[in-house]
Amino acid sequence: MDFTGKVVIVTGASKGIGKAVATEFARRGANVVLAARSAELLSEVESGLAGYPGKRLSLVTDVTKRDQVEAMVDKAVAAFGRVDVLVNNAGIGFSGRIANVDPDQIGLVFATNVMGPLYAIHAAVPVMRDQGGGTIVNVSSPMARMPFPTAGPYSASKAALDALSEAMRLELERDHINVMLVYPGFTQTEFFKSSIREPGTVIPTHPQVQGEPPERIARRIVEGVERGRTFVWYNAAVSLPIAIVASSAGLRRFVGRQVMRHRR
Ligand SMILES: NC(=O)c1ccc[n+]([C@@H]2O[C@H](COP(=O)([O-])OP(=O)(O)OC[C@H]3O[C@@H](n4cnc5c(N)ncnc54)[C@H](OP(=O)(O)O)[C@@H]3O)[C@@H](O)[C@H]2O)c1
Repeated sequence: MDFTGKVVIVTGASKGIGKAVATEFARRGANVVLAARSAELLSEVESGLAGYPGKRLSLVTDVTKRDQVEAMVDKAVAAFGRVDVLVNNAGIGFSGRIANVDPDQIGLVFATNVMGPLYAIHAAVPVMRDQGGGTIVNVSSPMARMPFPTAGPYSASKAALDALSEAMRLELERDHINVMLVYPGFTQTEFFKSSIREPGTVIPTHPQVQGEPPERIARRIVEGVERGRTFVWYNAAVSLPIAIVASSAGLRRFVGRQVMRHRR
């Protein structure tokens, strides 16, 4: 699909999966709004997209701040007149035992992964309704379905995003707004480095080594929008084993105990 003339907002566009998604939409001709907290990184991403068709708008935005998220959508509409696709990608990870981490730190996981998307959806849905439709992409995680030890708050935040997305999908159907959930696998980004961690936690480098390039999930996301999909898995082959483990408390406990055994 040619996205020429379409307007796409990508949160967390300064690096990782968000940068790759912004690049893929730009490559397909869209006007892309790049949002994240780092002005410097956004400017680098915007410069890197100069050769692609369509226009770019970089907006320094902290998704945990409602006024900043509303301003992001307002400025996107002021610049381009509409919002066809909202990609709620900005997110933060967590590594630690729940009882050992300050609840306010845990709250930041929910503020970023749940309230950030909610603020953006609240601001963008009236625009999408007025223009006759649109697509909301919520970047979740397979961890939403598997609440393993040392990642509980992250799993809980993504499970909350899943629940909100599934309810909203039906609520927004009559407005021709599709809500798509995305489950990336281990992806080669700075995600683990940026995670909130229990003091003394070692950054797991192993998954990064084996991770997928972010461009792969970015292509799947853009294809998913194009085809009006409701779910996008990074790899269909893993969705069945994950569904099996997720559906059995015994299997989840078994895998969770293995995780704890390898915990330093
Ligand atoms: N990497 C993986 O293995 C993996 C697996 C499953 C799901 N995911 C999900 O994929 C999404 C992208 O993660 P990633 O792997 O690309 O991680 P990343 O490389 O750490 O990138 C995270 C992005 O989110 C932005 N961000 C973080 N907090 C923000 C805030 N408060 N306001 C605005 N932007 C914020 C960061 O930009 P600034 O720091 O400049 O604000 C950055 O652009 C996340 O939702 C994550 O949960 C990742």
